[in-house]
Amino acid sequence: MTRTRTFDASTVVLAIETSCDETGAAVVMGGTEVLSSVVSSQIDLHARFGGVVPEIASRAHVDILPTVIDRALTDAGIDSSRIDAVAATHGPGLIGALLVGVSAAKALAFTWDVPYTGVNHLEAHLYAGLLEDATLEFPLVVLLVSGGHTMLIEMHDIGQYRLLGRTIDDAAGEAFDKVARFLGLGYPGGPAIDRIATSGNPDAIDFPRAMLHDGLDFSFSGLKTSVINFVRKHPDVSTADVAASFQKAVVDVLVAKSTRAAESVNARGLVLGGGVAAHTLLRRDFAEACGRLDIRCSLPSRAMCTDNAAMIGAAAWYRLRSDGAMSLDTGAFPNLRLAVVE
Ligand code: KG4
Ligand code: ZN
Repeated sequence: MTRTRTFDASTVVLAIETSCDETGAAVVMGGTEVLSSVVSSQIDLHARFGGVVPEIASRAHVDILPTVIDRALTDAGIDSSRIDAVAATHGPGLIGALLVGVSAAKALAFTWDVPYTGVNHLEAHLYAGLLEDATLEFPLVVLLVSGGHTMLIEMHDIGQYRLLGRTIDDAAGEAFDKVARFLGLGYPGGPAIDRIATSGNPDAIDFPRAMLHDGLDFSFSGLKTSVINFVRKHPDVSTADVAASFQKAVVDVLVAKSTRAAESVNARGLVLGGGVAAHTLLRRDFAEACGRLDIRCSLPSRAMCTDNAAMIGAAAWYRLRSDGAMSLDTGAFPNLRLAVVE
């Protein structure tokens, strides 16, 4: 018989994240207390290919996941008998990579006779802010900026989301990665541009701010093309100046639209989430915007912005409380969407 059927502040979740190129395991209590969080990055394996190679990612997850789970339990100072539920990211992501985490989580849940739940990776990014600051009050506006997604979401309450805006083409992280690749800065592109831009002039080139005054949707593919065209025309331009001017154009639009979104719904706070939320200039300008609006600002720590299993453990706890456990027949969903009201 399964041990825990009710989920409360003492519920301990073992969470697993394998949707892309980070192998993560974490132990989280009551949705807010991170007892451990271990992330093993595969960046070195993929860097020479200039991006994530799905087959390599799946195999690397298989190799390293057992060690990462062991470390998470050891770091938390508990053994498996204290785990009340097991969770894994079940989408969106690379199908082979997702299946590694989902299969491991279901096998552990079955063996330990505890509930299993699959977690939506995008929903988990929304919870990074709340995980680090449980005093945030609703309604919140979350700017979710990752490698595959760029969305502005109004969060009325736990589990209640309204889509305010999204990218109509490339995601912000994708723009960083593509521009970095074009500039020869390697993979992943976001941190590379973030670094080199510190020595560049953000006003050197006036790149377009697409759709700046036009609703709450985003578009980044024109900006990417404009960077490419500019560099082809001016091959001697300083790469640092291009990087600094490019990232300023991205950040200006992200911050302007987040500000407008917060005003339009009378948000009590603005929250950043997703890998691009680790970006230095975005964090600075986002915090300044919150200051101008006089509302709370949530900038999760950089480790919580990029992919990790602690945010999966937090989202899992809220889902277990609202919906209960999932059947072990549940699979993985590479194209899973966030359940939003549009
Ligand atoms: O959330 P995430 O780790 O994975 C996905 O769910 O996609 O986001 C990865 C994205 C990549 O595009 C990466 O270049 C970007 O986040 N990123 C950054 C920074 N760190 C990671 N972008 C800008 N500045 C950073 N410091
Ligand atoms: Zn992510």
